[in-house]
Amino acid sequence: MKDFNGKTAVITGGASGIGLATARALAAEGANLVLADIEAGALDTAAASFAPGVEVATLVTDVSDRAAVERLAAFADQRFGKTHIAFHNAGIAVFGPMEKMTHKDWEWTMRVNLWGPIHGVEAFLPRMLAHGEDSHMVFTASFAGLVPNKGLGPYNVSKAAVVSLAESLRADMRGRNVGSSVLCPMRVASRIDYAARNRPAELGGPNEERGYSDEEFDDLQGRTITAEETAQRVLAAMREGRLYIHTHYEAEPFVRKRAERILGAFEALS
Ligand SMILES: NC(=O)c1ccc[n+]([C@@H]2O[C@H](COP(=O)([O-])OP(=O)(O)OC[C@H]3O[C@@H](n4cnc5c(N)ncnc54)[C@H](O)[C@@H]3O)[C@@H](O)[C@H]2O)c1
Repeated sequence: MKDFNGKTAVITGGASGIGLATARALAAEGANLVLADIEAGALDTAAASFAPGVEVATLVTDVSDRAAVERLAAFADQRFGKTHIAFHNAGIAVFGPMEKMTHKDWEWTMRVNLWGPIHGVEAFLPRMLAHGEDSHMVFTASFAGLVPNKGLGPYNVSKAAVVSLAESLRADMRGRNVGSSVLCPMRVASRIDYAARNRPAELGGPNEERGYSDEEFDDLQGRTITAEETAQRVLAAMREGRLYIHTHYEAEPFVRKRAERILGAFEALS
């Protein structure tokens, strides 16, 4: 997609961090915005922060709820006619070693990080195919979806699946009007460390604490970059029709090593 002017972008997790920064970058290019987020207050504050003249609509949406994501797609159609960009970005993280993960940790992570994007594909893909105009889906995975981080088991698993979701969509949409990209950042300054603020009561309840210890933080790789820099990489990838969106050059040796380990295992066949 070369030009975002007049296009409509729906962004989940749009009230904060990477989602909000990408919304701002798209607004600067003349896109209409639908921001969706589970946090009503943050959504209102985010919407009010746009310059007059930017077309921005909001809908409180829990991406783990399929009907809510369907309502989001219908809302975007009603407000702007059609959706051209769906940014499946809302996500959460639970930190800690595998043996400490509860079933509720797994369940919450999968519902938001994996079912959220799946619901997004279910709701938006038929609409994009039906209107037939140049469209693009961006999925926020993580570096953790390419190379597992220590102490982030459920998150790694959910994000690896999101990488595959984006790749699978890309394969199925070859030659058609819906592009697919997957964002794979290391650390980005945002409110992800306080993701438990949005944890539903039935899955362990909300908690305002930072999600990890200093020791666990030290296990994470890479610099912390800004959400704004990340957003520019997202727009560039959409323009160039690129599948993988890397944000940190220091991720490269880790990805290479993993690929080499996988390829090296073929030696056992000879
Ligand atoms: N910040 C990082 O270091 C980093 C690195 C790699 C990937 N990511 C991914 O980036 C994405 C965006 O996160 P961020 O870092 O901007 O964090 P953030 O917490 O600032 O933003 C995430 C947004 O998602 C919303 N959200 C949470 N649960 C939701 C739900 N069930 N339904 C709808 N909205 C929900 C939150 O309210 C928040 O506004 C996530 O998918 C995250 O996993 C972040």
